Amino acid sequence: MWRRSLVPATKYFSTMKKEKMGFGWWNHVKPAPKDPILSITQDFLADTSPHKINLGVGAYRDEHGRPVVLQSVQAAEAYIAANQFSELLSSDATSKLVEQSVKLVYGKNSDAVTEGKLAGIQALSSTGACRLFAEFQKRLYPDSVMYLPDPTWSNHHNIWNDAEVRVRTYRYYNSISKGLDFPALLEDIKNAPDQSFFLLHPCAHNPTGIDPTEEEWRQISYHLKAKNHFPFFDVAYQGLASGDLENDAKAIKIFIEDGHLTGCAQSFAKIMGLVGHRVGCLSILSCNKKQATAIESQLNQIARAMYSKPPAHGMILVSRILSDPKLRLLWESEMKVMTNRIMRMRACLRRNLEKLGSHINWEHITNQVGMFCYSGLSIDQVVYIAKKFHVYITHDGRISMAGVTAENVEYLAEAIHEATRVNK
Ligand code: LMR
Repeated sequence: MWRRSLVPATKYFSTMKKEKMGFGWWNHVKPAPKDPILSITQDFLADTSPHKINLGVGAYRDEHGRPVVLQSVQAAEAYIAANQFSELLSSDATSKLVEQSVKLVYGKNSDAVTEGKLAGIQALSSTGACRLFAEFQKRLYPDSVMYLPDPTWSNHHNIWNDAEVRVRTYRYYNSISKGLDFPALLEDIKNAPDQSFFLLHPCAHNPTGIDPTEEEWRQISYHLKAKNHFPFFDVAYQGLASGDLENDAKAIKIFIEDGHLTGCAQSFAKIMGLVGHRVGCLSILSCNKKQATAIESQLNQIARAMYSKPPAHGMILVSRILSDPKLRLLWESEMKVMTNRIMRMRACLRRNLEKLGSHINWEHITNQVGMFCYSGLSIDQVVYIAKKFHVYITHDGRISMAGVTAENVEYLAEAIHEATRVNK
């Protein structure tokens, strides 16, 4: 008070500000590069055109392009609202979620589940599960390498780089055939140093929508085993490739039959339409119960220092849907509806492009599965359709088919057709 009376207020505050701010702590901070997926939504939001379409982020939309809250989720919400949250949140609630999650991928009767050899922890969706695993990998195998498919979900690179694990890629996509480059993939598995880590998308590969056949999975499993590589599965779209949960977990079962120890990052963001809830699970298959307990304690310790525990609401929603037989059936039928709608839109987009007289072979649109179509559009073509048609897809040409509807598919086809004629 006394100082203030001597120094004029504005001067006092500006001096104080300078003194206080003193050292320019953050002068050297530059803006981070834009996220290749999330920035597309920002561009879309900034666009004022009434024709704009966001096909960047993989999020399910109904036939009118609206976000969907599944009926199974609504019923689970009603159950939560009608009960005491604290009672639903019993001490073993998260371990129940883990138990239900691992049954989804490994099968409820698999030895992995029944013999207690799985270490598991609730995670912040698949991103969080991958991040926990990357940290675990760094601690236990500091000199190891994580091999990612080329291409893969862009955030995989961020996750393993941030955990300071060495990252390399293995070949996956053949840009000529717009399919799997299987010989190159096997070659890279064989040439990787023994005991490397390999990230695999067991179904609905993001971004390409190209999955190996069952026979190819058998060979991949064989060659990974021959080199003692560790298979780590990112399971973000189980059920959304074929509409069937078991079918989409076939690759993982092959690896288990072959005697691999495995890791799985699971997410309920897409398959239950719970993107904002961040519900997921990380599981690691070990040799016995004792190992599983030790691994689980390590994972819990890593999570504890990062964020302690994930939020509980979404976890209870998922748990309810997986444990209530009626809700489970409802959810599985809703998953079929989502998958079928996406498949219909694939056929429709291809048909429209062919109808427009496109000379490009668009078969890959219907050959690929899951939420994404790896269109083969170049960056110039992608920029063209954003500028001229206000259609937003990621710069690698990935189209989120989950956002394509009967109302916008013709317009999308026109945009693609024109872009491929103007920018060859
Ligand atoms: C996507 O690939 O679009 C999704 O996995 C969403 C995300 O977080 O990137």
